[in-house]
Amino acid sequence: MGRDHGRESSAFDAVAEAAGGESAGAGHGALDVVMEGLRRLEYRGYDSAGVAVISEQGIESRKKAGKLSNLVGELAADPLPRSMTGIGHTRWATHGGPTDQNAHPHLADEGRLALIHNGIIENYAELKAELTDQGLTFVSDTDTEVAAGLLGHLYRTLRDQGAEGDLLTRALQQACQRLEGAFTLLAIHEDQPGTVVAGRRNSPLVVGLGEGENFLGSDVSGFIDFTRRAVELGQDQIVTITPDDVVISDFYGTPAEGTEFHVDWDAAAAEKGGFASFMEKEIHDQPDAVGQTLLGRSDTAGNLVLDELRIDESILRSVDKIVVLACGTSAYAGQVAKYAIEHWCRIPTEVELSHEFRYRDPIVNEKTLVVAISQSGETMDTLMAVRYAREQGAKVVAICNTNGSTIPRESDAVLYTHAGPEIAVASTKAFLAQITAAYLLGLYLAQLRGNKYRDEIADVMADLAAIPAKIQTILDNADTIKALGADMANAKSVLFLGRHVGFPVAMEGALKLKELAYIHAEGFAAGELKHGPIALIEQGQPVVVVMPSQSARDSLHAKVVSNVQEIRARGAITIVIAEEGDTSVEAYSEHVFYVPASPTLLAPLLTTVPLQIFALALASAKGYDVDQPRNLAKSVTVE
Ligand code: AGP
Repeated sequence: MGRDHGRESSAFDAVAEAAGGESAGAGHGALDVVMEGLRRLEYRGYDSAGVAVISEQGIESRKKAGKLSNLVGELAADPLPRSMTGIGHTRWATHGGPTDQNAHPHLADEGRLALIHNGIIENYAELKAELTDQGLTFVSDTDTEVAAGLLGHLYRTLRDQGAEGDLLTRALQQACQRLEGAFTLLAIHEDQPGTVVAGRRNSPLVVGLGEGENFLGSDVSGFIDFTRRAVELGQDQIVTITPDDVVISDFYGTPAEGTEFHVDWDAAAAEKGGFASFMEKEIHDQPDAVGQTLLGRSDTAGNLVLDELRIDESILRSVDKIVVLACGTSAYAGQVAKYAIEHWCRIPTEVELSHEFRYRDPIVNEKTLVVAISQSGETMDTLMAVRYAREQGAKVVAICNTNGSTIPRESDAVLYTHAGPEIAVASTKAFLAQITAAYLLGLYLAQLRGNKYRDEIADVMADLAAIPAKIQTILDNADTIKALGADMANAKSVLFLGRHVGFPVAMEGALKLKELAYIHAEGFAAGELKHGPIALIEQGQPVVVVMPSQSARDSLHAKVVSNVQEIRARGAITIVIAEEGDTSVEAYSEHVFYVPASPTLLAPLLTTVPLQIFALALASAKGYDVDQPRNLAKSVTVE
């Protein structure tokens, strides 16, 4: 360790999350690696940012409130010395406001130790009192500084006792034994240049393996420029990285193993690909996201093969209820999937908001199949709901877009979507990929339980296979909906109406507009209109209507046409998303945007796209940052 071949470790972190370590055998300075990692991971949260390195003079740190660019300015004005060991962090504030003082890293042991943290330490007040009684003082409002103080205190105690060896790892093991809550901690100490130590519980952390350099990151996009070899870690683990070594243990020092995997997308995929924003790029990624998620899911005989679905078939056959657990857009994907799964499998399917689920004393047992839908795989609300469901005996399948993340690791099986990295905070391609994966799961269950014959499944798979090209058609003809979004930049509110599978699409369209344009938007079931919401309709009120196909069941189309007439009669500006050829709506619509025809249950994979484009165009016309909307983070890793 130490300055062996001049190579040491550096690390970076993002969104109050994970961290990394890199020994620059390849000549990358720690700061270069850390800042590149923070740049790639800033989307996960951007209230403040900071870095710390170990130089000849010991620990040196810079940190600033606001976006990463503020830290870049600070470093330009007051540069750090070149170093091969460092950590960095962007923060999404939980404890304490987004100020310079509260930004990470936090220092301890008289400035000889630097620490960064993701999560919430639930017993920080108790620990702070204990440490204060021992003479420690604190300058910030954060739970993180308490963790730093605890670690520094334990490190110093070991040192004063004459302990030898890797004291930082031992001190972090002891500290993690004391902490309650969710955390990923990353620390460096000037006594141990070349060493970065991290500990995690309920919070993301992934290792990057380089040649003479090693990394840690909130997710692999942090070190994708330097390596694609990664190791996922388990719960309650400590990892110590040095230029040539990665050592994993539990909180008590017992050696442990991680699982190595290859990152199957490159740095370019995480860049904007020539689009003005990640948001726009990812909307245009959607044909591929759906196509890749479908890839390789059936064998030559036409049977569905979901190789990651490692749950005994007899258990899947005995399932008598499905509970979808998710939040936000992922919950709307679950709501869309519910229609298909119940129609195909005849299994009662409930869609629950994760944060509500475990507090309502739900009826869950060994015959319940839980489907946890999460793009990031780190949403704390969903992770905790999954844990609760498993404690009740349920089997859990994760539908996730992030390899090596926590929710799949804590599930009984996983169906990965292959949408590629979704960088923009507002989810788009992951939403379509989630619906696609949920449909695959539904078809698999229908196949297994005999609800559908192989040829019926083949028909649906053929319809799904045609979806990417249909999405592309929408993208190639999006100028009118883009122009409409820009024209409505001054709208104060927009309502969204949908019915059947169009109802969750309306909800998702409203959420996109809220997230991106910060205006009031509300989605609701078209049939609900006359039960109250129609009171909202006044002259000039924009209403987006997701029109069912004319071939949809139960004459839903006629009913929604009536709804359009009702709101139009009261002055609404009607913006209708309809199936190509459906000219019946034109008489009542200010604007009609057509999507290609598709079977009813697959329509959401198409009707959602114009709503995404509309929200993006409206927010862009307002000049907002569509990739990092205010107050949001890409992965909500606190409850
Ligand atoms: C979607 O645009 C939002 N960013 C948010 O609602 C998100 O879908 C939700 O936080 C769930 O995230 P997950 O899919 O990573 O679990």
